Amino acid sequence: MLHRIGVLLSGRGSNFEALADSIAAGRIPGAEIALVIGNREGAPGLARAAARGIAAKAIPSKGLAREEYDRVVVDELRKAGVELVCLAGFMRLLSPYFVAAYPQRILNVHPSLLPSFPGLEAQRQALEYGVKFSGCTVHLVDENLDAGPILAQAIVPVRDGDTDETLSARILVEEHRIYTEAVRLILSGEYRIEGRRVIATGKTS
Ligand code: GAR
Repeated sequence: MLHRIGVLLSGRGSNFEALADSIAAGRIPGAEIALVIGNREGAPGLARAAARGIAAKAIPSKGLAREEYDRVVVDELRKAGVELVCLAGFMRLLSPYFVAAYPQRILNVHPSLLPSFPGLEAQRQALEYGVKFSGCTVHLVDENLDAGPILAQAIVPVRDGDTDETLSARILVEEHRIYTEAVRLILSGEYRIEGRRVIATGKTS
């Protein structure tokens, strides 16, 4: 049986596409994307999913209380048999209800080296702070913003001439790479969690 992944997104969906490409290329053995949910009607990521023949559904979050919305989404994920949830540019904090429904089975990608620069516009925050290195993080999701145990990180140097756009573009390349690594690790089951530390236990680690 393939591991069924559910992807949640709000916009462009390049991280979703990177995961779909990795699965198609055999880089995440035993996985399939069962469902993509977007919280904004017309999110380009939904059209990209549909174009690949992957089930895609808009469930608009506007006007709904956080948990009310999350209950609808969790219902859909369960109906689709989803066991692992990947947030891919999903710009909403999850409720404790959602986190408890998929304990240590929700991943998020964030465009900074956490715990630096959580929240919105992480790349702009990094530039404005003046750091010389930034990067990206894939982590397990808990009830707090961009805060769960870290699965993978990559460093991206900040260049003097960088703008928000150029830095974001270089970070994005690394996001796509480490998201695949993190999903592969989680699905392999070859890790243990000690406090906040995720320690790989596989032969290749
Ligand atoms: C990515 O850079 C992702 O790290 C970021 O949104 C972008 C989505 O791009 N997520 C966050 O900032 C979450 N806090 P995509 O739609 O092309 O994957």
